[in-house]
Amino acid sequence: MAKHIEFSATGGPEVLRYCEFTPTDPAPDEVQIENKAIGINYIDTYVRSGLYPPAGLPSRLGTEAAGVVTKVGSNVSYIKIGERVAYAQSGLGAYSEVHNVPANKLAILPDAISFEQAAASLLKGLTVYYLFYQTHKVQAGETFLFHAAAGGVGLIACQWAKALGAKLIGTVGSDEKANLAKAAGAWQTINYNRENIVERVLELTDGKKVDVVYDSVGQATWLDSLDSLAPRGLMVSFGNASGPVTGVNVGLLNQKGSLFLTRPSLNGYITTHEELAEASKTLFDFIASGKINVDVRENQKFPLSEAVRAHRTLESRATHGSSLLIP
Ligand SMILES: NC(=O)c1ccc[n+]([C@@H]2O[C@H](COP(=O)([O-])OP(=O)(O)OC[C@H]3O[C@@H](n4cnc5c(N)ncnc54)[C@H](OP(=O)(O)O)[C@@H]3O)[C@@H](O)[C@H]2O)c1
Repeated sequence: MAKHIEFSATGGPEVLRYCEFTPTDPAPDEVQIENKAIGINYIDTYVRSGLYPPAGLPSRLGTEAAGVVTKVGSNVSYIKIGERVAYAQSGLGAYSEVHNVPANKLAILPDAISFEQAAASLLKGLTVYYLFYQTHKVQAGETFLFHAAAGGVGLIACQWAKALGAKLIGTVGSDEKANLAKAAGAWQTINYNRENIVERVLELTDGKKVDVVYDSVGQATWLDSLDSLAPRGLMVSFGNASGPVTGVNVGLLNQKGSLFLTRPSLNGYITTHEELAEASKTLFDFIASGKINVDVRENQKFPLSEAVRAHRTLESRATHGSSLLIP
């Protein structure tokens, strides 16, 4: 027997239950991982709430963790029992002591990367990788806008932008978060609870605005993001922390300056084992070299049994950087 989180109805954090289950053997193309640290991602709240409905109920939760391989499916030859691995794209069920994961979704952990560092960074870091190298290629010297800059994805983005020599303008919900984003490498910050985003972007760019906005806040920032873009700029809408953007009139893109709009997801960019190996190596090299720090605050490491409290904390906007569940 093992312990995991499941839920029988979608809803608030209180639907999550910590209970026993009987793990099955891995399928031929899977391996079984004993999780040592589990990544908490905002997307987990969308699945739990029903915004991204699970395939059926009761459902398991979570797609990211790091741990040790304990069993290997019959078709898997290149991964061995005892190996240290991490994953960010499993089927639902990573909020668990053990999880069966397709072997081609595993990244082998270099010695320099701890389980906690990997679980705190893989999903979020792969996201920054595709956003900065593929959705739009961020250039040295380029100025761009990135929302929720002190969050899990956000603090990695600040550090990555600095490493690329780019000037990230980060929005944040408090002055404390502004200081964190600045310390991580944001060029400038905007506290969107008391400053006007569009006015500040105009000021910071000498009236030019920016060529790309990365927006994971969604509904609350949608119009300000479009208004922060220079003509023919790119709006990258990649999340819904404040609620989804719906009912868009595409004529708006014309009115706001012949803008481009994309709504990307990690699973649409990192699709093969080779792509995962390359992107995770880039991320882990940055962490090992000290250019990207993903250490998690002690009060954001929650026991697996306290997933309810972890979700409440994340959704109350009280977290800085990444959070973990520890089995
Ligand atoms: N499309 C993809 O491939 C992909 C992949 C990974 C993550 N994401 C998205 O990226 C975003 C960040 O994910 P994360 O896991 O790192 O979470 P996070 O940024 O640590 O937490 C979300 C943050 O959003 C901000 N926020 C703004 N309005 C909010 C509201 N009404 N309610 C709650 N939070 C609000 C808060 O920061 P402030 O207090 O500073 O406002 C909060 O801390 C999420 O939207 C997620 O869905 C997308």
